[in-house]
Amino acid sequence: MSDIEIKIGKKSEEVFKIIEPFFPPEEGLQKRVCESMNYSLRAGGKRLRPLLMLESYKLFGGEDLSKIAPFLAAIEMIHTYSLIHDDLPAMDNDDYRRGKLTNHKMFDEPTAILAGDGLLNFAFETIGKAMAEEDDPILLKREAHANRILGKKAGIYGMIGGQTVDIESEHKKDVDLDTILFIHKNKTAALIEASLMIGAVMAGADEESIRKIEEIGENVGLAFQIQDDILDVIGNSEILGKNVGSDAQNEKVTYVTLKGIDVSMNDQKAMSEKALNILDELNGKDTFLAEIISFLVTRNK
Ligand code: IPE
Ligand code: IPE
Ligand code: MG
Ligand code: MG
Ligand code: MG
Repeated sequence: MSDIEIKIGKKSEEVFKIIEPFFPPEEGLQKRVCESMNYSLRAGGKRLRPLLMLESYKLFGGEDLSKIAPFLAAIEMIHTYSLIHDDLPAMDNDDYRRGKLTNHKMFDEPTAILAGDGLLNFAFETIGKAMAEEDDPILLKREAHANRILGKKAGIYGMIGGQTVDIESEHKKDVDLDTILFIHKNKTAALIEASLMIGAVMAGADEESIRKIEEIGENVGLAFQIQDDILDVIGNSEILGKNVGSDAQNEKVTYVTLKGIDVSMNDQKAMSEKALNILDELNGKDTFLAEIISFLVTRNK
């Protein structure tokens, strides 16, 4: 493992310790759905979105961890729900995720559907609780702004919008690049944009900076999904912790099927560089955030 992989691994463990106290207790007659939610939350994963959020918060001068913590937990809950539903037989029909059986394989389909729903609601309940306990009117306004960004980027103008076009495009031969870019921008980049934007908003960044960090998120997100599509073809399922060949099995047109592996690799590198250039404009050149963005281009999981 390279130094940067070790560093990211350590940071992602730190992030896990911050978000874990927000997970639902496994009790009551609804215990099973809570166990199922926690099964997927605990299953591992890179914790990339909360990590990006935390580093963006720091970039813009955020210091109080307790103010960003509920949002770190919320974004990981929403991302995890999107994976549980993405893996269902009605969607990508996959058996492994984060190195373990997918939620519906470990539990059952109804429980996996409800665990996903549960995580989505619990994410916004977690933010609502933080807002209800907020005394500082300036912070409360930032939290409301962040909450709105999360709702939008996770919803029909974001992740859900992308997932719906992804599913609609299965088994079609004539999916064009614009459609693929729409899918990537929404199903994947939107939550990455939200992560970076919420860090900035909670730290009190100005509008222009929030716009720039959103653009960074778009480029990082597009590059991230292109690499995901590449790894679905040439990756190692043991390392990835999920099945490879899932896209081919579902007859999905991807960035890779349209452009080939080599062009895809070059394009994602260019997008990542664009993100780094914008980060320079925000004086983020020598930050851990820049290191993470550079690393993602070559990731193998
Ligand atoms: C997987 O996301 C879904 C995509 C948007 C490609 P990650 O690769 O970040 O998954 P985890 O969180 O590490 O499991
Ligand atoms: C899923 O994209 C993006 C989500 C919103 C979950 P993929 O379907 O390519 O993600 P993986 O490869 O299953 O992780
Ligand atoms: Mg999918
Ligand atoms: Mg999938
Ligand atoms: Mg994939």
